[in-house]
Amino acid sequence: MAQTWTVLKILQWTTDYFHDKGIESPRRDAELLLGASLGLDRVGLYLHFDRPLEESELSAYRALVVRRAKREPLQYILGETEFWSLPFCVSPAVLIPRPDTEVLVEESLRLAGGHRILDVGTGSGAIAVALAHELADAQVVALDISPDALAVAERNARRNSVEDRITFLQGDLAHLPAGPFDLIVSNPPYIPAADVEGLMPEVREFEPRQALVGGSDGLDPYRALARQASFCLVPGGWLLVEVGIYQASDVQRLFADAGLKEVFCRDDYGGVPRVVGARTGVVDRAV
Ligand SMILES: C[S@@+](CC[C@H](N)C(=O)[O-])C[C@H]1O[C@@H](n2cnc3c(N)ncnc32)[C@H](O)[C@@H]1O
Repeated sequence: MAQTWTVLKILQWTTDYFHDKGIESPRRDAELLLGASLGLDRVGLYLHFDRPLEESELSAYRALVVRRAKREPLQYILGETEFWSLPFCVSPAVLIPRPDTEVLVEESLRLAGGHRILDVGTGSGAIAVALAHELADAQVVALDISPDALAVAERNARRNSVEDRITFLQGDLAHLPAGPFDLIVSNPPYIPAADVEGLMPEVREFEPRQALVGGSDGLDPYRALARQASFCLVPGGWLLVEVGIYQASDVQRLFADAGLKEVFCRDDYGGVPRVVGARTGVVDRAV
């Protein structure tokens, strides 16, 4: 006789299965996928542990489990994630926004001295949308080379009701718009090309290469940003970037060599140097 699968039983089975597949948070992922299949949140699942699953529910859930077992990121399967406590749609056209990037938003809010902001490599629009959400008078230009990413970012701006204050622009960070901007913020692709093969399968096989690789040493986008910052920022305007592990001192040097001032670095909450910032010199207006 076929066995009856209850919510609890299938959660336990999936947790073991995901664990064997090397998935980092097997129980959490099982709960989120089952919740999505049944239209229940995690508390709802806990209240219905003994509920038997119908065959149609089982087969819908099985399809999601197969995808996750192949290491497709949970966020792509669910089609959404959270950043800065706001909801974001995600697709394989965009990098999944990471909690570490919230430190870059914090620093932007701390230092933003004016309302004209440029977000370079906007991807899902995470940074642009979070800043527009927090700063009522912000006018953000969100730039990306990928039209598919920009379509996702526009959707996220509408979803968070900030679409009237963000302009989406397709372009290459090698040629930034003239501005002038009060703040340029960027989480650019920064992985050295040769390091991609060593990344987790979720990242290596599913996230867009264009969002990951920053040239042979990972620093190409920072060079381009440092070179252009003085031309696109107002005097005293800030350039703030997220950096990868071990890159902070190189990026600080690049910024200083480009003539930027007050170069600093801030750690993320895991103690990793994560944000590098610098500003253009204030022009001496004395005659
Ligand atoms: C690391 S992702 C960051 C996405 C988003 N800002 C975030 O923090 O989650 C980098 C983004 O830069 C974009 N990008 C890559 N090369 C670019 C280039 N040359 N010019 C403009 N954007 C570029 C990618 O398409 C991707 O969306």
